[in-house]
Amino acid sequence: MLEGSRDLEAVVRVAVERVTGLGRGVVLGLGSGRTAAAFIKSLAASGGARTVEAVIPTSLQAEAAASENGFRIGSLYNYEDLDIYVDSFDQCSLAGDLVKGMGGALAREKLLMRLARFVLLIGTEEKLAEKLSAPIPLETIPYAAPTLPRLLRGKGWSVRAKISEGKAGPVVTDNGNVLMLVEVGVVDDPPLLERELKMIPGVVEVGVFPNRGYKVIIGMRDGTIREIT
Ligand code: A5P
Repeated sequence: MLEGSRDLEAVVRVAVERVTGLGRGVVLGLGSGRTAAAFIKSLAASGGARTVEAVIPTSLQAEAAASENGFRIGSLYNYEDLDIYVDSFDQCSLAGDLVKGMGGALAREKLLMRLARFVLLIGTEEKLAEKLSAPIPLETIPYAAPTLPRLLRGKGWSVRAKISEGKAGPVVTDNGNVLMLVEVGVVDDPPLLERELKMIPGVVEVGVFPNRGYKVIIGMRDGTIREIT
């Protein structure tokens, strides 16, 4: 997925229209990753700073992107409710369930998605699958990271640290935790898997996001839009 591709542009446009259509004084939760960055840039270019009162970011990357594009940054001390949350995902099933968190922002993302009145998730066609099967990111306290293979023994799942493409060693999240990946195969019951993984001691958040009333929209390669939920 490249910035400027037709599929991404089409779906970003839908998100921009949705936010600008809310009027003034909007409190916007912003996800992390390339799609969220493309969205906030496009929102700024469409005069979004007049619509948005404050952006609550989910990462240092999102904070910088919003700030560089002229948006005021808010925090959860200032705003307890979000009008809308916009983000992407790593994989989406036809039922609208999601895998998120490859960028390491899953804990803050899940929190803001719970606080937002409306959640809009946008992605491109290659992220769509019949059922979820991507590796599931887990944000884990560093102390617990080496225990995960043992704690998951018997499940038939493999666990590894996500190795950073920049710094040496594992990806460390903005919360100072380690990002682990669990291969579970095809996911038949996302809420059950979410509960099961979240029960593991030391796991802070899990990258299974069962659809809890989220709007999920896909930009297709031919430039059309597909509404999943
Ligand atoms: C960040 O932790 C993730 O949840 C992102 O939402 C996800 O990885 C999508 O990122 P891209 O927009 O870069 O594909």
